Amino acid sequence: MNTTKFFALFALIAIFAVLAACAPAPTPAPTAAPPTAAPKPTDAPKPTAVPPTAAPKPTDAPKAGGTVTVYASPQEEWVKAAMAQFTKDTGIKVDYVAIGSGEAYTRIAAEKAAPKADVWWGGTVDPHIQAKLAGLTEKYCSPNAKDIPAQYKDPECFWTGMYVGFIGFTINPNLLKQKNLPTPKVWADLIKPEYKGLIAMSDPAQSGTAYVIMATLVQKMGEDAAFKYLAALHKNITQYTKSGPGPITLVGQGEALIGINFAHDTIMFMKQGQPINYVIPEDFDGYEIGGVSLLKGGPNPAAGKALIDWTLTAKAMELAATANSFQVPTNPNAAVPKESVKVSDVKAIDYKLDWAAENRRRLVTRWTNEVGNLPK
Ligand code: G6P
Repeated sequence: MNTTKFFALFALIAIFAVLAACAPAPTPAPTAAPPTAAPKPTDAPKPTAVPPTAAPKPTDAPKAGGTVTVYASPQEEWVKAAMAQFTKDTGIKVDYVAIGSGEAYTRIAAEKAAPKADVWWGGTVDPHIQAKLAGLTEKYCSPNAKDIPAQYKDPECFWTGMYVGFIGFTINPNLLKQKNLPTPKVWADLIKPEYKGLIAMSDPAQSGTAYVIMATLVQKMGEDAAFKYLAALHKNITQYTKSGPGPITLVGQGEALIGINFAHDTIMFMKQGQPINYVIPEDFDGYEIGGVSLLKGGPNPAAGKALIDWTLTAKAMELAATANSFQVPTNPNAAVPKESVKVSDVKAIDYKLDWAAENRRRLVTRWTNEVGNLPK
């Protein structure tokens, strides 16, 4: 081929190549599947293969899974709803035991050598602090604890506050009226002889609620004066219940006319139709912080940490009210239920948590010896 012919052929090939590149792509034929047909699983785009040269992804923290074992101290209606939602949100299963705060402490202490649970969820925080002091819990600084104000969490991350609740007097207004008895307004009213055998409270040796009541009185009145008061109150007590909300049922049924317990528990029973109401003591009041702790040596600490992280979110705390639990959430981003008793409604004492925890065993023993065993 001479040079002129060669260049003419080359130019021709180049023109064809440019034209082919500019031509529109052929339109795909319309899909035959009817519009209602669900997409076939095989239609999903194929995952792009990672080129063999791609750098390996850094390994994430061990992913929580499996089952978390929980000792849960709030009202079971809330525990049940919260644990179901946690499983839905994370895929982690929950095995929970509903157990009051005082009893939970005793159980966790008894299991120290072979812990069975991962998390102690809720309940008055004094025994949680006692558990920290006894080496039963593990430090865990949840990233979500950053949202919880300092007064509601341990600076060393052994426990974090989930909620706050205030003591109140549960009353049965109809029965008080029937018996021509006044509504108690201050603590001193409860030791009046007219209420003999008509008051219920929980047992300070078993219930965290009762311990908050006792520790409040001791901190406000001084220890000896408070024990004199508790001995006088004992004469009016018809029954010491095992759990904190126990007195409310007795008041609802008319077996007692007055109960001493957390006001949010009374509100729960009012919502369920009990013929009761509550009074916030006018002179002074005690309160609880409800805590959550990671137990030392539990079977699944990664899942335990995941539960604590979840618990501290505003969304998880807001679930409480849907299960008739009206404590005040500690996360300021969570809505406070309109039913809740708020700190501005009460004359709260300056409750010393560490003091209450350190003295719990001693005060409970003193109460059992000097009050609980007294004849009525
Ligand atoms: C109830 C309350 C909680 C409280 C708990 C303490 O469930 O709603 O706010 O923390 O009682 O239980 P306890 O039986 O130990 O008094």
